[in-house]
Amino acid sequence: MKLQRVGVIGATGLVGQAIVEWLLRFGYLPDYISLFASQSSDGKSLTLGQKNFSVLSLTEKAIQTLDVALFATDAAVSRQWISIAQSRGVVCIDNSSAFRQDPSVPLVIPEVNGHVLATHPQVIASPNCSTIIALLALAPLHHTLRMKAFTACTYQAVSGNGTEGLRTLERERQCGDSFSEIYSDRIEGNVIASIGIPQGNGFTDEEEKLCHESRKILASPELQATATCVRVPVERAHSMALQARFESSVDLAMAEEQLRYAPGIHYTLTSVATPFRCAWNEDCFVSRLRKDPFDDKQLLLWTVGDQIWKGAALNVVQILNRL
Ligand SMILES: NC(=O)c1ccc[n+]([C@@H]2O[C@H](COP(=O)([O-])OP(=O)(O)OC[C@H]3O[C@@H](n4cnc5c(N)ncnc54)[C@H](OP(=O)(O)O)[C@@H]3O)[C@@H](O)[C@H]2O)c1
Repeated sequence: MKLQRVGVIGATGLVGQAIVEWLLRFGYLPDYISLFASQSSDGKSLTLGQKNFSVLSLTEKAIQTLDVALFATDAAVSRQWISIAQSRGVVCIDNSSAFRQDPSVPLVIPEVNGHVLATHPQVIASPNCSTIIALLALAPLHHTLRMKAFTACTYQAVSGNGTEGLRTLERERQCGDSFSEIYSDRIEGNVIASIGIPQGNGFTDEEEKLCHESRKILASPELQATATCVRVPVERAHSMALQARFESSVDLAMAEEQLRYAPGIHYTLTSVATPFRCAWNEDCFVSRLRKDPFDDKQLLLWTVGDQIWKGAALNVVQILNRL
């Protein structure tokens, strides 16, 4: 039984609802959980984990009644409200990109760098979903083999765009027309090799987040990381092909051993992980581990994870549990 007063901001969204469900699963009492969203959701009722909740619009008065605020809002909303919450002494854990590159804010995947929470920071950022899924597989290898570089090609589900991404795919499936308010082209029956905002260097902000965040979390500023982020017509769970180069020649059996015992990972030698099978799982699934036949310092692998659970909501609640 956990008696902290926890506020979930953005509680009507995909990540916010999953946070509430994870809080209940971990034993936080419903009476101590408050749900907030935008003004348009004020007074709305939600049933989550078989408990009924009322949603309120966020106010300065409401935020100071909390011990902890878990943000599942976009970066602009998080930035605005976290500075207010901070001034009231509320501990904030944020899902958005607003504070991830702030050197004073730890960026945390508990299984990878949970030790940074020992300083009891007041604001903590949860990484981009693809960063979490990639690093759960790469960090255990990095810790023993010293990773020098990696390349990621992602296959990201539409729910990565929140409620609106799912709605778009559903409408396109039902009506056959294109409803690309958030995509540059139809997404149903298609693959779009660009996610986020172009940065003027050929990469998008989504691709840069994966690289910059990995360097910060692994405390490896020299890590050579590049990514191509692709949207695919899958509802839930992100998949990723990773190619990683290490300091010296890699022993495949030793790498397998690292992955088999790594926390948060289900390593499978025999089957191929798919988003259909891996959605709604706490663990990320790693398969198809291979050695590059042309470079004995290099490994290739395939990883899949539920980006709403471990890529966001579950990671945030695990951070809270550690605190
Ligand atoms: N979806 C993923 O796979 C994923 C993974 C990792 C991280 N994230 C990050 O998590 C955050 C939430 O994503 P999501 O997918 O859950 O988005 P979403 O489904 O679109 O939900 C957005 C939430 O923000 C709320 N909101 C909007 N304006 C607000 C305001 N002014 N004050 C308070 N609440 C406000 C919305 O409330 P209303 O319903 O009232 O509009 C809704 O509850 C984003 O920063 C996203 O980048 C998402």
